Amino acid sequence: MTQIPLPELALVALVGASSSGKSTFAAQHFGPSEVLSSDHFRALVSGSEHTLDANAAAFDSLFYVAAKRLERGLLTVIDATSVRPDDRRRLVDLARAHDVLPVAIVLDLPRGVLEARHEARGDRPFNAAVIGRQQTELRRTLRGMGKEGFRHVWTLRTSEDVEAAQVTRVP
Ligand code: GTP
Ligand code: MG
Repeated sequence: MTQIPLPELALVALVGASSSGKSTFAAQHFGPSEVLSSDHFRALVSGSEHTLDANAAAFDSLFYVAAKRLERGLLTVIDATSVRPDDRRRLVDLARAHDVLPVAIVLDLPRGVLEARHEARGDRPFNAAVIGRQQTELRRTLRGMGKEGFRHVWTLRTSEDVEAAQVTRVP
């Protein structure tokens, strides 16, 4: 079982392809105002979670709010795919700018699980091939993640791992 002891003052990146279970994990382990989700910010700035050309505005807003929370010393969870190193670098830089520890929880589930969940959801208006590309990008770059500046990287590889994970806060 994976124990995830989080520092009280951390920026937590949930990393994983669409349908890997980031938002579900976030809702199980964190309070609603601790979690900043890119989907939610896309909806706030454009009226829909799926407006892809609202990405820049959504992330600007998400980062603005994250910075305000970190200034107050509040643990903050970023629920976005973050499968690309450039996306994660921005998170590490934000944490460093606020003297907060950046940590990552990676949900790297088997492709078949992601595709089955995607088909079952029906609320994601894109082809499962998109998820395949996200997973490929994550796996291509996962081994180097330890050198991206995260203090800890916890990787969960099966739904059993994810369900059994225990998140605690350490002073
Ligand atoms: P995006 O927001 O599209 O990036 O996906 P996500 O990573 O936030 O995934 P989400 O938490 O929305 O989960 C996707 C689907 O998988 C949902 O239908 C969930 O109910 C299901 N799911 C998530 N986590 C688990 C899990 O641990 N076990 C099982 N059986 N289903 C899960
Ligand atoms: Mg989600």
